[in-house]
Amino acid sequence: MDRAIIVDGLVKDFEVTEREPGLTGAFKSLISPKKKIVNALKGVSFSIQPGELVGFIGPNGAGKTTTLKTLSGLLYPTAGFVEVLEFDPWKRNPEFLKQISLVMGQKNQLWWDLPAIETFELNRAIYDIPTRSYNENLKELTELLDVEKLLNTPVRKLSLGQRMRMELVAALIHKPKVLFLDEPTIGLDIIAQQKVRDFIYDYNRKYNATVLLTSHNMGDLINLARRVIIINDGKILYDGAFEDLIMQYAKEKIIKATLSNENNISNLEKIGKIKKLSFPEVVLSVPRSAAAVAASELLQNFPVDDLTIEEIPIEEIIRKAFKSEPKK
Ligand SMILES: Nc1ncnc2c1ncn2[C@@H]1O[C@H](COP(=O)(O)OP(=O)(O)OP(=O)(O)O)[C@@H](O)[C@H]1O
Ligand SMILES: [Mg+2]
Repeated sequence: MDRAIIVDGLVKDFEVTEREPGLTGAFKSLISPKKKIVNALKGVSFSIQPGELVGFIGPNGAGKTTTLKTLSGLLYPTAGFVEVLEFDPWKRNPEFLKQISLVMGQKNQLWWDLPAIETFELNRAIYDIPTRSYNENLKELTELLDVEKLLNTPVRKLSLGQRMRMELVAALIHKPKVLFLDEPTIGLDIIAQQKVRDFIYDYNRKYNATVLLTSHNMGDLINLARRVIIINDGKILYDGAFEDLIMQYAKEKIIKATLSNENNISNLEKIGKIKKLSFPEVVLSVPRSAAAVAASELLQNFPVDDLTIEEIPIEEIIRKAFKSEPKK
């Protein structure tokens, strides 16, 4: 098998009922519902090799979750061809389901009032995992994600970051070969984000797992994805090296600092291009390669209380890269 995922000319339309506001509207839509079609995917094509980790990015409503749900067999394609590990996802063959997993940062599968271990046990039964592999997998995953001590705590008492890591254990307890991750770091603090990223990185390497990852977080992509696919309004805009996009459209990094007084403030422009200066906050843009030096100069020569170095947001890179795209 040379391709783990094949998507060819995928179209997905949703039918939605439009409702006019107010009571009359509610009544009208009951009598003669007005239907509208939303074209979520307008002919999407790409393929992914076994073991590849690909970032799937695009603005809100672009069609990312719809694509991942279709690949997991939760949505039936309106038209086009989809194949994952040589299975038709929509058939939801048990052999297929044993080899994939969809993790959604905004939704959870853990039972809220029970300890996470209970959900894992349930998944063991669902996926029919032999006891020995289950125990091995559980030990390995909980160690890697550093949640061994929390297995018997009711899920509702876990922090968001702890819960997300438990979600990953639940989603991976059957050691899937293909992983669909839909914003796995959303809402997590920086440390929890890094833990989840490190884990995804290791899982991909260790098991040669195929990973398709959506995220609005630049840090996730910079750390994980060498290839990215950009989707916008249901169509693919770009499929290629992430590095190329960064080099072309994210030549700068952003330094944000909080100052304790206004001494020397007129010299800030020697450090970098001033994007915003409203005391005590200052935002500078500096060349990528010079970011560390600029930050240390800032710390040495200015009364800095707090400082962060940030990447340009993904949405901005996409806007920059495709603003000149001719409309078809
Ligand atoms: N069940 C549904 N019924 C009707 N329309 C839907 C449904 N699911 C998605 N859509 C529409 O399809 C389009 C694509 O949505 P999708 O959730 O795939 O976007 P996304 O790229 O995941 O966005 P985000 O970054 O906000 O998560 C949007 O216009 C959305 O409103
Ligand atoms: Mg989404």
